[in-house]
Amino acid sequence: MKKNLKIEGYLKRARKEGFAIGQFNFSNSDQLKGIVEAAFELRSPLIVGTSPAEVNYLGLEIAVNLVAAWKVKLTKRLGRSFPLFLNLDHARDLKVIKEAVFRGYDMIHFDGSFLSLKKNLQETKKVLKIASQKKVLVEAEVGQLGTESSTIYKEKFMIQDSFLTKPEDVEYFVRESGVKFLAVNIGNFHGVQKIGKNPHLRIELLKEISRKNQNIYFVLHGGSGIPFQDVKEAIKQGMVKVNFNTDLRLAFAKAILKELKEKPEEIAPYKYLNQGVLAIKKVVKERIKLLGSAGKIV
Ligand code: G3H
Ligand code: ZN
Repeated sequence: MKKNLKIEGYLKRARKEGFAIGQFNFSNSDQLKGIVEAAFELRSPLIVGTSPAEVNYLGLEIAVNLVAAWKVKLTKRLGRSFPLFLNLDHARDLKVIKEAVFRGYDMIHFDGSFLSLKKNLQETKKVLKIASQKKVLVEAEVGQLGTESSTIYKEKFMIQDSFLTKPEDVEYFVRESGVKFLAVNIGNFHGVQKIGKNPHLRIELLKEISRKNQNIYFVLHGGSGIPFQDVKEAIKQGMVKVNFNTDLRLAFAKAILKELKEKPEEIAPYKYLNQGVLAIKKVVKERIKLLGSAGKIV
């Protein structure tokens, strides 16, 4: 009989087998459809995420129920549990976090990176306490991204060195909080550069962080635009989750705009929105292949 792995089981497996699980963000049911269909067709475990703005638009309860409905449908189709997990991404508000934990989110990413390290630690401990009541996994963050998805930088983006994660901060933070799942900044940022790929990741920095914190599962935010070779290298050095949003939003918007431009008379949403669904599906499939998670459902 196949084991029904929870999210921690999949992260462990990802670390052991050298792949990463993609987190793909959504704010409506069409985007979600494209994402889950891509993961299902490739038999890949999947994390879907909602940022505070996305939750605001969609509604927390609706997000939980949409994901739950897909999980039931795909589990039936697969004949065993389909590993689909919902993460509250970049959460900062304890009230929203509490609601997410009790309404059925599987994971919470507490983004305390805008706080001092000490305050970040204090707040992360509060989140860990709330989450433990429902055995929800907490992703913390050390180092700052300070950028937003959907941003298309016209110039070459320069990361401030002070934003990068310091290996000694990770050691301290992990020791004091007991957190096992951590987002770090190794030169990644939210959004993409208009010209070419984003700047290279600081792989040497990740190696150092990783060497000193062997039991930690690392998360790479700002997956859009990162050179593919760097993503692969980061996975080798301990990244088990990579987040993507801007790439999907770009594909969705472009496809729908194109369709409406070509067929201005078309007003049936299920027709023109479907072009967006198909475009997201294509991007997600490419990212899943990049992360090596295809065929990894147990
Ligand atoms: O938390 C979400 C991600 O970090 C997405 O970043 O929009 O640059 O892909 P991205
Ligand atoms: Zn992020």
